[in-house]
Amino acid sequence: MIEVQDRTAARIAELEQQLKAMRLQLLQAQKMSSVGVLAASITHEFNNILTTVINYAKMGIRHKDAATRDKAFDKIMAAGQRASKITTGMLSYARHHGDRREPMDLVPLVEDVLVLVEKDLQRFRIKLVTQYESRPWASVNSGQVQQVLMNLIVNARQVMESGGTLTVGVRTNTETGHGEMSIRDTGGGIPAEKLRRIFEPFYSTKTLDEQGQGGTGLGLSLAKDVMESHGGRIRVDSAVGAGTTFTLKFPLVQAPVLPTSSMQKVG
Ligand SMILES: Nc1ncnc2c1ncn2[C@@H]1O[C@H](COP(=O)(O)OP(=O)(O)OP(=O)(O)O)[C@@H](O)[C@H]1O
Ligand SMILES: [Mg+2]
Repeated sequence: MIEVQDRTAARIAELEQQLKAMRLQLLQAQKMSSVGVLAASITHEFNNILTTVINYAKMGIRHKDAATRDKAFDKIMAAGQRASKITTGMLSYARHHGDRREPMDLVPLVEDVLVLVEKDLQRFRIKLVTQYESRPWASVNSGQVQQVLMNLIVNARQVMESGGTLTVGVRTNTETGHGEMSIRDTGGGIPAEKLRRIFEPFYSTKTLDEQGQGGTGLGLSLAKDVMESHGGRIRVDSAVGAGTTFTLKFPLVQAPVLPTSSMQKVG
């Protein structure tokens, strides 16, 4: 009898391990699908950067005076740095981060995602507004949280087909002890009967687009899993005809004490 119980317990532990591994794989697969969604905009941006580099290189070759050449070098340098920021961001986003968490400032975490989506938003005539009210710290798995943000931003972009405003905010809720990130769109909003279902796995109202990209309906369900595993929450507020706000809440951790010089940048 005891032996049977032992074997059952071992089998349950083994299945739990497998389930955990499959969840992580699913998370990674969903991440790759969002990389696909952004590929067209990012490739387009690289073309623009290369055009800038080529034109300023031509200018530097044509004009021999130091002032013009200095300007050309500055422009080429800036374009190169922008390109490198995007590739670094993309590689870091695509990498598998495992499920470790560490204390982090939530603002740079958001900024790193915005670097990747900026062009995509411009392409769809969406204005990006950022509101960083404070610099909360939380213990997070940066890869997973960036993936959640990416899905919320892509969702928002997809409901603002004829343009709109995307407002991304970070603040500290001292009352509840949470660091909060919010993503607000000016899309069509979500009616009550849909709102009840959006966090269900595979619930999607999207159809395949010309690039074969369509909703798997996993984005929000994985977002909920990720937030729960962080001891946090995801909340949605929506008004039909006005737009939708998603809020991610993370339990606050103490920010490390910074030397005075870097403190000046805060706020
Ligand atoms: N900002 C939003 N405004 C209006 N509806 C939304 C918004 N975000 C999500 N939804 C609705 O919730 C559904 C589920 O979203 P979710 O991100 O889970 O899946 P998806 O975007 O359809 O697919 P995937 O994220 O896997 O590509 C969407 O299909 C859409 O109907
Ligand atoms: Mg989605």
